[in-house]
Formats: sequence, structure tokens, C-alpha cells
Amino acid sequence: MKNILVTGAAGFIGANLVMRLLKEGFQGQPYHIVGLDNMNDYYDVSLKEYRLAEIDRVAKQKDSSDSCNSCSSCMWQFIKGDIADKATVDKIFNEFKPQIVVNLAAQAGVRYSIENPDAYIQSNMMGFYNILEACRHNPVEHLVYASSSSVYGGNKKVPFSTDDRVDNPVSLYAATKKSNELFAHCYSKLYHIPTTGLRFFTVYGPAGRPDMAYFGFTNKLRKGETIKIFNYGNCRRDFTYVDDIVEGIVRVMAKAPASPKSSPKGKNMGVHTADPMLYGRLKELAEEMRKNPTEAEKVLWEALRANGLGVKFRQQHIIEDFIVDFYCNEYKVTIEVDGDYHHDVEQMKSDEERTARLSELGYTELRFTNEEVLHDLDRVLKTIKTFCSGTPSPSGEGRGEAPYAIYNIGGGQPENLLEFVNILQEELVRAGVLPQDYDFEAHKELVPMQPGDVPTTYADAEALERDFGFTPKITLREGLRHFAEWYKEYYK
Ligand SMILES: NC(=O)c1ccc[n+]([C@@H]2O[C@H](COP(=O)([O-])OP(=O)(O)OC[C@H]3O[C@@H](n4cnc5c(N)ncnc54)[C@H](O)[C@@H]3O)[C@@H](O)[C@H]2O)c1
Repeated sequence: MKNILVTGAAGFIGANLVMRLLKEGFQGQPYHIVGLDNMNDYYDVSLKEYRLAEIDRVAKQKDSSDSCNSCSSCMWQFIKGDIADKATVDKIFNEFKPQIVVNLAAQAGVRYSIENPDAYIQSNMMGFYNILEACRHNPVEHLVYASSSSVYGGNKKVPFSTDDRVDNPVSLYAATKKSNELFAHCYSKLYHIPTTGLRFFTVYGPAGRPDMAYFGFTNKLRKGETIKIFNYGNCRRDFTYVDDIVEGIVRVMAKAPASPKSSPKGKNMGVHTADPMLYGRLKELAEEMRKNPTEAEKVLWEALRANGLGVKFRQQHIIEDFIVDFYCNEYKVTIEVDGDYHHDVEQMKSDEERTARLSELGYTELRFTNEEVLHDLDRVLKTIKTFCSGTPSPSGEGRGEAPYAIYNIGGGQPENLLEFVNILQEELVRAGVLPQDYDFEAHKELVPMQPGDVPTTYADAEALERDFGFTPKITLREGLRHFAEWYKEYYK
């Protein structure tokens, strides 16, 4: 049976991920899940123990099955240990040889990093380095790791895109997360370890982290204390419900960024490798197609040139046995514009073969319909620029060189903090955490910004939608309702 290692498994996101994998399996295969967590007391440890008990409960539900592969001891095992301890990490990798590693263990929190910087260096830097080293020396197929929206630091441009530069962190926490992305890139490039970093945007939900605002607000309101709303409520955040985060992680886990190792050794990608006879025919055909472009190809070519991308692309280029409409060597991107002839069955079959082969060779294939190019050119260009901007983007950086990717996971619909708090209060009253006649106005105080905080963060989540067909869906009202109901039950 294959193994998945989840670090930070007793944590908020980790526990939810493990439960999802136990309930629904992964890619229809039996997987053994190993959870690692040091159970530190950054926040109430009993909450971590509760989450582990919930995981056990879910795992035991599987025991009714006849198949040994789906009994709880086959499926789930928890190890208390520290990722900053190299010997522990090495032992786990040696013993379990995980194919997929999801690193969620970290010292989280922005404010705590101001008081306790050591914890961040230990867990987030040393710990992540140990995980990377262990991946390097073991046959890991995909390392998925948690980054954070905090890497966008003081950036002014919203929504935050993985194309944006992220070199002005405003907390040590953010600096460690950005460092993780750099470390991962380096290991992907040097040792061909497929890595995907996920920048989560403010995650909330049942049994969440008590250090986060919504949980702290709830505790205070319940005790009749006054809550402080920073930046006078003028903070806008992408709040992302934990199930949406887990859905994003599971989808990403299943698709490692393309590895150049999978391309035939010594092959110069982008140069034809077809046999000489076939190459001669392809060359003639490509020449003819170049001379007689479709209307959409013409429009797109002119737009690429007008946007300074003409120098990066070649038209009707031959790659092995295929002709691609547009080809960019620098960023290992090809573009396909559906011409009429793509509708015939023969061509559609070879379209599929081409798509699969290009992916093996480490190319990103962008496909657009004629209608998209002719009627929605701005969006088409935006997508292309994501891959081919002047400075290589993190998600495009080294494409075809390092099997490395970064995605945002966030709702893309920022909510004003005041609105968030209003919905929270309504749902707490509904769930019976607060009394019906609770005087909310008397319990809120509007205060200035805290050091290290940023006023607006929200995600450009297009890349996740494009590559994994997924955008977070759960509304704030729905998510906070689940939280309030859980809270009522847990603290009864
Ligand atoms: N929750 C959010 O809003 C959010 C946003 C952005 C990024 N993230 C990142 O997502 C990941 C999971 O976050 P979470 O909200 O579940 O936090 P969490 O604190 O609930 O979970 C992290 C878990 O890791 C464990 N841990 C910490 N250091 C460890 C170490 N050295 N060795 C082993 N275990 C260790 C902790 O005990 C904890 O159970 C973290 O990397 C965090 O930085 C979270």
C-alpha cells in the first residue's frame, strides 16, 4: 500500500485533510496515512487532542469493512514528533517511504512571530529543510507544502497573484513562508523533486485555531468582553472555509508539476525529433499553416506582438510529431487556437495525444477557442501573460526546468472585517452561543492597525481554477454557521 505523510496532522488544516482522505480515499486507491505533529502548546493542546480523537473516530468507522486494506490500523497512524528533529524525519521517511508528502506543520501566526521568533526558525526553516532533505533522499513523487497569503506582505496591488513579486514581507512568519518557496524551488530544480506551494488565505471553520480573530472574538463575546476590530474595521480579507482549502489540497496532491526527468534523456525540448520523412511533411504543412492563418490565429498573433510577446513566440512550430500553433521556448508554453480542422475526429485524437505528450515534455499547453480569441481577447492575453511576463513568475518560474508550482487558495471575494464580525455575531446568536438579546454594539471597539498586519488581502485564484477546475465555494454565512454550531457543542 502507498503512503501519504501529513505533517501538522493534529493542526486545524492537517486534521481536516486527514479526515477527508480517510473518508473519501485518494485517487481510488488504498493509502496509508502517517500523521506527524509535535503537539506544541502554541494554543490549547486539548483542541489538538480533540482533532486526533475525531480522526480516530473516522478511521474506526472504516473497520466495519471486510477488506484489511481499509481497517483503521492499515489506514491511519499518528506519530508525535518534531520536523525540526532531523533524526525523527529521516526515520519516518525510511520506514514509510511516502509517495506524497503534505507539509502543514509550521509555527503559524503573524503576531506571535514578533514575540517568539525562535519558534519560526526552528519549525518553518529547519523543519522544512529537513523535509526537503528527506524528500531528496527518498522516492517522493510530490511534496505539497503550506505557504501563506502573508508572503504578499505590503503589496498594494490586489487581487494578489502568484505573478506578483513577493519580496517585501512584513513579518518573520511571512519571511519564513517565502523562504520555504525559495527552498522548494531550489530542491525542485537541483533534484527534480516535484513541489507545489499553496498560499492559503485566512482559513476558518470548526475546531479552528483559537489564535485567529474569529475564534478569539467568539471567546470574548461569550465572556461578555469587548472585541477590538483592527484598522477600524477597514480590513478586507479573503476568508476561506477549511473544506475548500482541503478540496484544493487534495486536487493539487493528485497532480505533481511536470518533471523534466520524464522527458527522454538528452532530448532538446522544442526541437523536432520526428523521423526525417515525417519531419519533411510536417515542415511543409507548418509552412502552409503559417501562410494561411485562421482569423483567430491572425488576431492573436497581432495581439501578442502589440503586447511585446511577439519576440517570445514562434508560429506553427514542430515539436516531435506535432505542430503547435504558437510556441514559447523561454517559458515552455504552447498555445493552441482551435481552427476549423480541429473538429474532425482524426485531428481531435491527435490533439489529445499532443496535449499528453507536451505535458510529459514539461510544456504548459494553453488552449483557446476561436470565440475566446475573437470576443474575449483581454482575458486570453491575461492568461498568456500569466505564463510569459517579463520577469518569470513564481508559477511559471523555471517551467520545464524545475517541477515547481505555486498556487493561491482563497475565495477571491474579500469581505470587510466589520461585515464578517456582523455575520459571526448573528450566527453565534442563532447557534445559541450568545443570547438573543446580546448587545453587540456595546462589545465592539474600533482600533488602529497592528504592526505586521496588512489592510487588504485577497486572492487571484484563477490559476487554481485553470489548472484544477476549482474555486472555493463556501459562503461566509454557511462557513460561520458550521463554526458557531461546532463551538456551541464543543464548549457546552
Ligand atoms: N489557518 C490559516 O489561516 C493559514 C493561512 C495561511 C497559511 N497557513 C499555514 O497552513 C499550515 C497549517 O495551518 P493551521 O491553521 O492548520 O495551523 P495549526 O497551528 O493548527 O497546525 C499546525 C500544526 O503543526 C504542528 N507543528 C508546529 N510545529 C511543528 C514541528 N516543528 N514539528 C511537528 N509539528 C509541528 C502544530 O502542533 C500544529 O498542530 C501552516 O503551515 C500554516 O502556516 C494557515
